[in-house]
Amino acid sequence: MRLIIAIAIYLTIGGPCETHAQTNIQLEALKRLKDLDIESNPSLKKVVLNILESTKGKPAFVEIIRDFNLKGYEAELIRFAQANPNKSEGVEAMRLALTKKGLNLISTYIKNIENKNVEDTILALANTLDPKAEPTLLTILKDGEKPFSTRKISVTGLAKTKSGAMALMKAAETNQLDNKLHFVVGNALRSVRWKTISEKAAKLFPPPQGLGQKLPTLAKLIQMKGNIANGEKVFFRPTSACATCHQINGQGIDFGPKLSGIGTKLGKEALYLSVLEPSAGISFGYEAWLLKLTNGSEVLGIITSRTNKEITITAPGGISTTYKIRDIKSTTKLPNSIMPPGLQATMSPQELVDMVSYLHSLKQAKN
Ligand code: HEC
Repeated sequence: MRLIIAIAIYLTIGGPCETHAQTNIQLEALKRLKDLDIESNPSLKKVVLNILESTKGKPAFVEIIRDFNLKGYEAELIRFAQANPNKSEGVEAMRLALTKKGLNLISTYIKNIENKNVEDTILALANTLDPKAEPTLLTILKDGEKPFSTRKISVTGLAKTKSGAMALMKAAETNQLDNKLHFVVGNALRSVRWKTISEKAAKLFPPPQGLGQKLPTLAKLIQMKGNIANGEKVFFRPTSACATCHQINGQGIDFGPKLSGIGTKLGKEALYLSVLEPSAGISFGYEAWLLKLTNGSEVLGIITSRTNKEITITAPGGISTTYKIRDIKSTTKLPNSIMPPGLQATMSPQELVDMVSYLHSLKQAKN
Protein backbone atom coordinates (compact mmCIF):
# COMPACT_ATOMS: atom_id res chain seq x y z
CA MET A 1 0.00 0.00 0.00
CA ARG A 2 2.74 2.43 1.01
CA LEU A 3 4.67 1.55 -2.07
CA ILE A 4 1.68 2.45 -4.19
CA ILE A 5 1.33 5.81 -2.50
CA ALA A 6 5.03 6.48 -2.93
CA ILE A 7 4.78 5.71 -6.61
CA ALA A 8 1.76 7.98 -6.80
CA ILE A 9 3.80 10.84 -5.40
CA TYR A 10 6.62 10.23 -7.84
CA LEU A 11 4.13 10.36 -10.66
CA THR A 12 2.39 13.50 -9.49
CA ILE A 13 5.64 15.29 -8.99
CA GLY A 14 7.62 15.07 -12.19
CA GLY A 15 9.06 18.52 -11.39
CA PRO A 16 8.29 21.41 -9.06
CA CYS A 17 4.61 21.76 -8.20
CA GLU A 18 2.81 23.90 -10.64
CA THR A 19 -0.72 24.00 -9.41
CA HIS A 20 -2.31 24.39 -6.04
CA ALA A 21 -4.30 21.19 -6.55
CA GLN A 22 -1.12 19.31 -7.32
CA THR A 23 0.47 20.49 -4.07
CA ASN A 24 -2.57 19.34 -2.14
CA ILE A 25 -2.45 15.87 -3.66
CA GLN A 26 1.23 15.61 -2.75
CA LEU A 27 0.61 16.76 0.82
CA GLU A 28 -2.22 14.26 1.27
CA ALA A 29 -0.02 11.46 -0.05
CA LEU A 30 2.85 12.60 2.20
CA LYS A 31 0.68 12.44 5.32
CA ARG A 32 0.24 8.73 4.73
CA LEU A 33 3.97 8.19 4.64
CA LYS A 34 4.81 10.08 7.78
CA ASP A 35 6.03 7.15 9.83
CA LEU A 36 8.58 6.05 7.23
CA ASP A 37 12.26 6.58 7.93
CA ILE A 38 13.32 8.78 5.04
CA GLU A 39 17.00 8.67 5.95
CA SER A 40 17.15 5.10 4.68
CA ASN A 41 15.33 6.00 1.51
CA PRO A 42 17.19 8.75 -0.38
CA SER A 43 14.75 9.02 -3.26
CA LEU A 44 11.82 9.49 -0.91
CA LYS A 45 13.89 12.04 1.00
CA LYS A 46 14.46 14.00 -2.17
CA VAL A 47 10.73 14.05 -2.84
CA VAL A 48 9.95 15.16 0.70
CA LEU A 49 12.52 17.97 0.59
CA ASN A 50 11.15 19.12 -2.75
CA ILE A 51 7.66 19.38 -1.35
CA LEU A 52 8.99 21.03 1.80
CA GLU A 53 10.55 23.75 -0.33
CA SER A 54 7.22 24.51 -1.97
CA THR A 55 5.40 24.82 1.38
CA LYS A 56 7.70 27.42 3.03
CA GLY A 57 5.72 29.85 5.17
CA LYS A 58 2.65 27.58 5.24
CA PRO A 59 1.43 25.30 8.04
CA ALA A 60 2.30 22.24 5.92
CA PHE A 61 5.97 23.24 6.19
CA VAL A 62 5.85 22.74 9.96
CA GLU A 63 3.92 19.49 9.67
CA ILE A 64 6.41 17.96 7.25
CA ILE A 65 9.35 18.88 9.48
CA ARG A 66 7.60 17.35 12.46
CA ASP A 67 6.29 14.23 10.74
CA PHE A 68 9.58 13.33 9.06
CA ASN A 69 11.72 14.50 11.95
CA LEU A 70 13.80 16.81 9.73
CA LYS A 71 16.70 18.63 11.37
CA GLY A 72 18.36 21.98 10.77
CA TYR A 73 15.33 24.15 9.97
CA GLU A 74 15.38 26.24 13.17
CA ALA A 75 15.72 29.62 11.44
CA GLU A 76 12.74 28.98 9.14
CA LEU A 77 10.68 27.56 12.00
CA ILE A 78 11.37 30.60 14.18
CA ARG A 79 10.39 32.91 11.33
CA PHE A 80 7.15 30.99 10.90
CA ALA A 81 6.47 31.13 14.65
CA GLN A 82 7.06 34.90 14.69
CA ALA A 83 4.43 35.32 12.01
CA ASN A 84 1.93 33.04 13.81
CA PRO A 85 2.70 33.31 17.54
CA ASN A 86 -0.88 32.73 18.67
CA LYS A 87 -1.78 29.93 16.29
CA SER A 88 -1.34 26.26 17.03
CA GLU A 89 0.91 25.72 14.01
CA GLY A 90 3.12 28.70 14.93
CA VAL A 91 3.56 27.39 18.46
CA GLU A 92 4.32 23.93 17.11
CA ALA A 93 7.00 25.51 14.91
CA MET A 94 8.56 27.20 17.95
CA ARG A 95 8.48 23.96 19.90
CA LEU A 96 10.33 22.19 17.09
CA ALA A 97 12.88 25.01 17.05
CA LEU A 98 13.83 24.58 20.71
CA THR A 99 17.11 22.81 20.00
CA LYS A 100 20.45 24.15 21.20
CA LYS A 101 20.95 25.88 17.87
CA GLY A 102 17.41 27.28 17.86
CA LEU A 103 17.70 28.61 21.42
CA ASN A 104 20.95 30.36 20.50
CA LEU A 105 19.32 31.94 17.47
CA ILE A 106 16.41 33.12 19.62
CA SER A 107 18.59 34.68 22.31
CA THR A 108 20.71 36.52 19.76
CA TYR A 109 17.58 37.74 18.07
CA ILE A 110 15.82 39.06 21.16
CA LYS A 111 18.94 40.78 22.50
CA ASN A 112 18.53 43.40 19.83
CA ILE A 113 15.73 45.79 20.83
CA GLU A 114 15.64 47.09 17.27
CA ASN A 115 14.30 43.78 16.00
CA LYS A 116 10.63 44.32 15.43
CA ASN A 117 9.42 40.80 16.09
CA VAL A 118 10.80 40.43 19.62
CA GLU A 119 7.37 40.48 21.21
CA ASP A 120 5.99 37.87 18.80
CA THR A 121 9.03 35.68 19.38
CA ILE A 122 8.47 35.76 23.14
CA LEU A 123 4.76 35.16 22.69
CA ALA A 124 5.34 32.01 20.62
CA LEU A 125 7.97 30.91 23.13
CA ALA A 126 5.60 31.48 26.07
CA ASN A 127 2.89 29.50 24.32
CA THR A 128 5.04 26.37 23.93
CA LEU A 129 4.69 25.38 27.63
CA ASP A 130 8.05 23.71 27.15
CA PRO A 131 10.57 23.74 30.01
CA LYS A 132 13.32 24.39 27.43
CA ALA A 133 11.81 27.84 26.86
CA GLU A 134 11.91 28.83 30.54
CA PRO A 135 15.49 30.16 30.84
CA THR A 136 14.87 32.55 27.93
CA LEU A 137 11.56 33.69 29.39
CA LEU A 138 13.23 34.35 32.74
CA THR A 139 15.96 36.40 31.11
CA ILE A 140 13.38 38.61 29.41
CA LEU A 141 11.41 38.98 32.60
CA LYS A 142 14.43 40.29 34.50
CA ASP A 143 15.54 42.61 31.71
CA GLY A 144 14.45 46.14 32.62
CA GLU A 145 15.36 47.38 29.14
CA LYS A 146 12.62 45.32 27.53
CA PRO A 147 9.16 46.85 27.09
CA PHE A 148 6.63 46.05 29.81
CA SER A 149 4.31 44.27 27.36
CA THR A 150 7.04 41.80 26.42
CA ARG A 151 7.98 41.10 30.04
CA LYS A 152 4.34 40.55 30.88
CA ILE A 153 4.07 37.89 28.18
CA SER A 154 7.00 36.06 29.80
CA VAL A 155 5.23 36.15 33.16
CA THR A 156 2.03 34.62 31.81
CA GLY A 157 3.99 32.03 29.87
CA LEU A 158 6.03 30.96 32.89
CA ALA A 159 2.97 30.74 35.14
CA LYS A 160 1.44 28.14 32.83
CA THR A 161 3.86 25.38 33.79
CA LYS A 162 4.71 24.17 37.25
CA SER A 163 8.46 24.53 36.85
CA GLY A 164 7.95 27.99 35.31
CA ALA A 165 5.67 29.09 38.15
CA MET A 166 8.21 27.86 40.68
CA ALA A 167 10.97 29.78 38.94
CA LEU A 168 8.79 32.91 38.96
CA MET A 169 8.08 32.46 42.65
CA LYS A 170 11.78 32.07 43.35
CA ALA A 171 12.56 35.25 41.42
CA ALA A 172 9.93 37.08 43.47
CA GLU A 173 11.16 35.71 46.80
CA THR A 174 14.76 36.60 46.08
CA ASN A 175 13.80 40.15 45.05
CA GLN A 176 14.83 39.76 41.46
CA LEU A 177 11.67 41.38 40.13
CA ASP A 178 11.25 45.09 39.85
CA ASN A 179 8.16 46.71 41.36
CA LYS A 180 6.53 47.30 38.02
CA LEU A 181 5.99 43.58 37.65
CA HIS A 182 4.49 42.90 41.08
CA PHE A 183 0.87 43.21 40.03
CA VAL A 184 1.16 40.96 36.98
CA VAL A 185 3.25 38.36 38.77
CA GLY A 186 0.85 38.37 41.75
CA ASN A 187 -2.15 37.96 39.48
CA ALA A 188 -0.52 35.14 37.56
CA LEU A 189 0.75 33.22 40.58
CA ARG A 190 -2.39 33.56 42.72
CA SER A 191 -4.42 31.77 40.07
CA VAL A 192 -2.12 28.84 39.22
CA ARG A 193 -3.55 25.38 39.84
CA TRP A 194 -0.74 24.19 42.12
CA LYS A 195 -1.98 24.86 45.64
CA THR A 196 1.40 25.24 47.36
CA ILE A 197 2.32 27.94 44.85
CA SER A 198 -1.00 29.78 44.83
CA GLU A 199 -1.18 29.83 48.63
CA LYS A 200 2.32 31.18 48.95
CA ALA A 201 1.50 33.77 46.27
CA ALA A 202 -1.62 34.91 48.13
CA LYS A 203 0.62 35.77 51.10
CA LEU A 204 3.41 37.30 49.09
CA PHE A 205 1.08 39.25 46.80
CA PRO A 206 -2.19 39.94 48.64
CA PRO A 207 -5.08 40.55 46.17
CA PRO A 208 -6.04 44.17 45.45
CA GLN A 209 -7.85 45.95 48.27
CA GLY A 210 -11.48 46.97 48.17
CA LEU A 211 -12.74 43.94 46.31
CA GLY A 212 -12.75 41.53 49.20
CA GLN A 213 -16.20 42.59 50.49
CA LYS A 214 -18.45 39.77 51.61
CA LEU A 215 -20.83 38.53 48.90
CA PRO A 216 -24.59 38.61 49.56
CA THR A 217 -26.38 35.23 49.42
CA LEU A 218 -27.27 33.81 46.04
CA ALA A 219 -30.97 34.61 46.53
CA LYS A 220 -30.10 38.25 47.28
CA LEU A 221 -27.70 38.47 44.34
CA ILE A 222 -30.43 37.27 41.96
CA GLN A 223 -32.72 40.09 43.14
CA MET A 224 -30.12 42.85 42.85
CA LYS A 225 -30.33 45.13 39.81
CA GLY A 226 -27.33 45.29 37.50
CA ASN A 227 -25.96 47.77 35.00
CA ILE A 228 -25.56 45.89 31.71
CA ALA A 229 -23.15 48.37 30.06
CA ASN A 230 -20.84 48.28 33.07
CA GLY A 231 -21.17 44.48 33.20
CA GLU A 232 -19.77 44.27 29.68
CA LYS A 233 -16.74 46.28 30.80
CA VAL A 234 -16.23 44.03 33.82
CA PHE A 235 -16.41 40.91 31.64
CA PHE A 236 -13.81 42.20 29.19
CA ARG A 237 -11.36 43.82 31.60
CA PRO A 238 -8.14 41.85 31.92
CA THR A 239 -8.34 41.27 35.69
CA SER A 240 -11.58 39.29 35.31
CA ALA A 241 -9.80 36.97 32.82
CA CYS A 242 -13.15 35.89 31.28
CA ALA A 243 -12.20 36.92 27.75
CA THR A 244 -8.96 34.93 27.92
CA CYS A 245 -11.16 31.83 27.71
CA HIS A 246 -14.55 32.89 26.29
CA GLN A 247 -15.69 34.63 23.15
CA ILE A 248 -18.71 36.89 22.94
CA ASN A 249 -19.70 37.96 19.44
CA GLY A 250 -16.22 37.27 18.13
CA GLN A 251 -14.37 39.13 20.89
CA GLY A 252 -12.06 37.20 23.22
CA ILE A 253 -10.24 33.87 22.92
CA ASP A 254 -12.06 30.77 21.74
CA PHE A 255 -11.28 28.19 24.43
CA GLY A 256 -14.25 27.56 26.72
CA PRO A 257 -17.86 27.65 25.48
CA LYS A 258 -18.81 30.73 23.45
CA LEU A 259 -21.13 32.93 25.50
CA SER A 260 -22.79 34.98 22.74
CA GLY A 261 -26.28 33.59 23.41
CA ILE A 262 -25.72 32.40 26.99
CA GLY A 263 -28.76 34.34 28.28
CA THR A 264 -31.07 31.90 26.45
CA LYS A 265 -29.31 28.85 27.85
CA LEU A 266 -28.77 29.82 31.49
CA GLY A 267 -30.94 31.75 33.93
CA LYS A 268 -29.44 34.16 36.46
CA GLU A 269 -28.98 31.54 39.16
CA ALA A 270 -27.11 29.19 36.83
CA LEU A 271 -24.99 32.10 35.61
CA TYR A 272 -23.97 33.00 39.17
CA LEU A 273 -23.16 29.36 39.87
CA SER A 274 -21.05 29.11 36.71
CA VAL A 275 -18.82 31.84 38.13
CA LEU A 276 -18.97 31.09 41.86
CA GLU A 277 -18.74 27.30 41.55
CA PRO A 278 -17.42 26.45 38.07
CA SER A 279 -17.02 22.76 38.84
CA ALA A 280 -20.68 22.36 39.85
CA GLY A 281 -21.91 21.77 36.31
CA ILE A 282 -19.24 21.21 33.68
CA SER A 283 -20.41 21.67 30.09
CA PHE A 284 -20.24 18.53 27.97
CA GLY A 285 -17.10 18.39 25.82
CA TYR A 286 -15.28 20.94 27.98
CA GLU A 287 -14.04 18.63 30.69
CA ALA A 288 -10.49 19.12 31.91
CA TRP A 289 -7.88 16.52 31.01
CA LEU A 290 -4.36 16.12 32.27
CA LEU A 291 -1.89 14.42 29.94
CA LYS A 292 1.37 13.18 31.39
CA LEU A 293 4.03 12.83 28.74
CA THR A 294 6.86 10.35 28.66
CA ASN A 295 9.34 13.27 28.73
CA GLY A 296 8.07 14.19 32.19
CA SER A 297 5.99 17.23 31.31
CA GLU A 298 2.28 17.67 31.93
CA VAL A 299 -0.37 19.35 29.81
CA LEU A 300 -3.76 20.49 31.03
CA GLY A 301 -6.58 21.30 28.64
CA ILE A 302 -9.65 20.22 26.73
CA ILE A 303 -9.30 17.23 24.40
CA THR A 304 -10.53 18.42 21.04
CA SER A 305 -9.70 15.35 18.95
CA ARG A 306 -8.67 11.80 19.58
CA THR A 307 -7.70 8.95 17.27
CA ASN A 308 -5.90 5.71 18.06
CA LYS A 309 -2.59 7.36 17.13
CA GLU A 310 -2.85 10.94 18.39
CA ILE A 311 -4.59 13.19 20.88
CA THR A 312 -5.11 16.90 20.30
CA ILE A 313 -5.45 18.98 23.44
CA THR A 314 -6.28 22.68 23.60
CA ALA A 315 -4.72 24.54 26.49
CA PRO A 316 -6.18 27.65 28.13
CA GLY A 317 -5.22 30.42 25.73
CA GLY A 318 -6.60 28.46 22.79
CA ILE A 319 -3.40 26.82 21.56
CA SER A 320 -3.87 23.22 20.36
CA THR A 321 -1.14 20.64 20.31
CA THR A 322 -1.22 17.12 18.91
CA TYR A 323 0.67 14.43 20.78
CA LYS A 324 1.45 10.94 19.57
CA ILE A 325 -0.10 8.24 21.77
CA ARG A 326 3.37 6.73 22.22
CA ASP A 327 4.61 10.00 23.77
CA ILE A 328 1.77 10.02 26.32
CA LYS A 329 2.20 8.16 29.59
CA SER A 330 -1.31 8.73 30.95
CA THR A 331 -4.52 10.66 30.33
CA THR A 332 -6.69 11.58 33.29
CA LYS A 333 -10.02 13.35 33.32
CA LEU A 334 -10.03 15.81 36.20
CA PRO A 335 -13.07 16.28 38.42
CA ASN A 336 -12.79 20.07 38.38
CA SER A 337 -13.52 22.59 35.68
CA ILE A 338 -10.61 24.31 33.95
CA MET A 339 -12.41 27.53 34.73
CA PRO A 340 -10.76 28.66 37.97
CA PRO A 341 -12.95 29.29 41.03
CA GLY A 342 -12.68 32.60 42.86
CA LEU A 343 -12.76 34.96 39.88
CA GLN A 344 -15.46 36.97 41.67
CA ALA A 345 -12.69 38.08 44.05
CA THR A 346 -11.42 40.38 41.31
CA MET A 347 -14.69 42.36 41.32
CA SER A 348 -16.95 44.05 43.83
CA PRO A 349 -20.33 42.40 44.54
CA GLN A 350 -22.06 45.10 42.47
CA GLU A 351 -19.67 44.49 39.58
CA LEU A 352 -20.48 40.77 39.75
CA VAL A 353 -24.19 41.61 39.59
CA ASP A 354 -23.53 43.92 36.62
CA MET A 355 -21.58 41.23 34.80
CA VAL A 356 -24.25 38.57 35.33
CA SER A 357 -26.93 41.03 34.11
CA TYR A 358 -24.85 41.56 31.00
CA LEU A 359 -24.48 37.80 30.38
CA HIS A 360 -28.21 37.33 31.03
CA SER A 361 -28.98 39.99 28.42
CA LEU A 362 -27.10 38.07 25.69
CA LYS A 363 -29.97 36.35 23.94
CA GLN A 364 -28.44 35.66 20.53
CA ALA A 365 -25.18 36.04 18.67
CA LYS A 366 -24.78 39.29 16.77
CA ASN A 367 -23.30 38.93 13.31
C1 HEC B 1 -9.15 29.38 32.25
C2 HEC B 1 -10.28 29.53 31.37
C3 HEC B 1 -11.55 30.19 31.86
C4 HEC B 1 -11.70 31.43 32.46
C5 HEC B 1 -10.62 32.40 32.88
C6 HEC B 1 -13.11 31.63 32.59
N1 HEC B 1 -13.79 30.55 32.12
FE1 HEC B 1 -15.79 30.31 32.08
N2 HEC B 1 -15.56 28.40 31.44
C7 HEC B 1 -14.37 27.81 31.06
C8 HEC B 1 -14.61 26.44 30.63
C9 HEC B 1 -13.55 25.45 30.15
C10 HEC B 1 -15.99 26.22 30.77
C11 HEC B 1 -16.71 24.89 30.47
C12 HEC B 1 -16.56 23.94 31.60
C13 HEC B 1 -17.48 24.28 32.70
O1 HEC B 1 -18.70 24.34 32.42
O2 HEC B 1 -17.02 24.49 33.82
C14 HEC B 1 -16.56 27.47 31.28
C15 HEC B 1 -17.92 27.68 31.51
C16 HEC B 1 -18.49 28.91 31.74
C17 HEC B 1 -19.90 29.19 31.74
C18 HEC B 1 -21.00 28.16 31.45
C19 HEC B 1 -21.16 28.07 29.96
C20 HEC B 1 -22.19 27.10 29.49
O3 HEC B 1 -22.40 27.07 28.25
O4 HEC B 1 -22.76 26.38 30.30
C21 HEC B 1 -20.08 30.53 32.01
C22 HEC B 1 -21.38 31.30 32.10
C23 HEC B 1 -18.75 31.08 32.18
N3 HEC B 1 -17.80 30.07 32.01
C24 HEC B 1 -18.49 32.42 32.48
C25 HEC B 1 -17.23 32.92 32.78
C26 HEC B 1 -16.99 34.26 33.29
C27 HEC B 1 -18.05 35.30 33.55
C28 HEC B 1 -15.64 34.36 33.49
C29 HEC B 1 -14.87 35.52 34.09
C30 HEC B 1 -15.26 35.95 35.41
C31 HEC B 1 -15.04 33.09 33.09
N4 HEC B 1 -16.03 32.24 32.65
C32 HEC B 1 -13.68 32.79 33.12
C33 HEC B 1 -13.14 28.40 31.08
C34 HEC B 1 -12.87 29.64 31.66
